[in-house]
Amino acid sequence: MTRGRFIALEGGEGVGKSTQLRLLAEALRARGHGVVTTREPGGTPGAEAIRAMLLDPAGEGWGPRAEALLFAAARADHVDRLIRPALERGDWVLTDRYLDSSRAYQGGGSGLADADLLALHAIGSQGLLPDRTVLLELDPALVAARLAARDQGLSDRIGGRDAAYHARVAAAFRGFASAEPDRFAVVDADGAPEAVHARVLAALDA
Ligand code: TYD
Repeated sequence: MTRGRFIALEGGEGVGKSTQLRLLAEALRARGHGVVTTREPGGTPGAEAIRAMLLDPAGEGWGPRAEALLFAAARADHVDRLIRPALERGDWVLTDRYLDSSRAYQGGGSGLADADLLALHAIGSQGLLPDRTVLLELDPALVAARLAARDQGLSDRIGGRDAAYHARVAAAFRGFASAEPDRFAVVDADGAPEAVHARVLAALDA
């Protein structure tokens, strides 16, 4: 049995990751692959419990270090209990966010060192990286319009951080993609879902 492939979709808020994840899963199933779709933070009961603590924290909320540790802990459970077993069965795993979200948000956004986030990932998840990471990119003005329609002012604790925070997140993602061009595929997320989907497929086929 050959090991399945591991693909992560990344990007800022409101770029259409979950729609693209669904379309990509359908396309891969139509090609005969077993496909598991999942998300972060979350994906397993333990990681979903940590998700609830992260996105709706008690009291004054987590500091950046505690937040990074919780994301890494959630990911460790997700990798151990869901992602690795699925890959070992030969399934493809598609995840809505993974390690690069921690590097972009807790690193680029909140200022933690990238080397520290990679060290947490080495401890928690034995450094497991996706085979390919699709970075969906969208103009911030278009994102603002999509989010206003989607969330109607009710974004979560992290999504609701200010525009400067999200600009640092976007810049960090872009930097990771240029540093690792073999792992990343950068896809323009503007346009109808089917048009973006065609770009995602083309990027992965390449
Ligand atoms: P979610 O509702 O899944 O956001 P989105 O619809 O934008 O994917 O919430 C996840 C939030 O958690 C999002 O704001 C990004 C943030 N996040 C981190 O800060 N670090 C991480 O490692 C991950 C996986 C997510």
